Amino acid sequence: MSALALEEQLDAIDPLRHLRQHDELDLVPAQPPSVHNQTLELAFPPVSIRLLVDASPGCGGIAWPAGEVLSTYIARRGSLQGKHVLELGSGTGLVGLVAGMLGADVCITDQAPLLPIMERNVALNNLSDCVSVLELNWGDPLPRNLPHFDLILAADCVYFEPAFPLLVQTLVDIASRDDPEILFCYKKRRKADKRFFTMLKKKFSWEEAFDDPDREKHGKDAISLLRLARRR
Ligand SMILES: C[S@@+](CC[C@H](N)C(=O)[O-])C[C@H]1O[C@@H](n2cnc3c(N)ncnc32)[C@H](O)[C@@H]1O
Repeated sequence: MSALALEEQLDAIDPLRHLRQHDELDLVPAQPPSVHNQTLELAFPPVSIRLLVDASPGCGGIAWPAGEVLSTYIARRGSLQGKHVLELGSGTGLVGLVAGMLGADVCITDQAPLLPIMERNVALNNLSDCVSVLELNWGDPLPRNLPHFDLILAADCVYFEPAFPLLVQTLVDIASRDDPEILFCYKKRRKADKRFFTMLKKKFSWEEAFDDPDREKHGKDAISLLRLARRR
């Protein structure tokens, strides 16, 4: 059996096993799979975030390395005053909260079980004036009343093969409507992730964020920060 076929069989039994593998990264603090209602203090100069993490609503309830990389990148770029930002697969809401701290009007989104922890994190950081929480399942039509966005953020959203076409569809829907900048931060965990990029390539081109001063270091950790552009 090929290595890829074996991976697929193991994925069918436990789709999240890649996420649970221990990362030897000096990024987000280690959060055991059993972590429950713990508050992390995370700094992304010039902003800092108090982040409630709790694994009980699912894998999104903890902070992931690509989320930390994307948060660091947008914080370094500076003010997002006047920008309208949408985050997909927000989990705890970390990246969107950072965008809110930087002055943006932000909509953080995920599946229903994650919404309570996102709401608690918005409140914990006093961001309810500028960060809203919305259920957005990839592949579903965009809500009719969704405002227009200048910037789309997505971190660590490539891990579950059945969701690959759904995520691509949502990216297409948003990009076709708003023509936003799309920052897509991805940690490579397995060979099957290639299939996501094969699907993505039909609709988007991309380049690495060459202005990220930590690009080389992240590359060693198998994390890529990409800027996507819709193919016309
Ligand atoms: C690995 S977590 C990353 C969370 C966060 N972006 C971070 O970097 O810490 C992936 C997130 O994608 C969300 N997700 C997975 N499938 C989804 C779908 N079909 N629609 C919307 N969100 C989804 C999960 O609920 C989870 O919060």
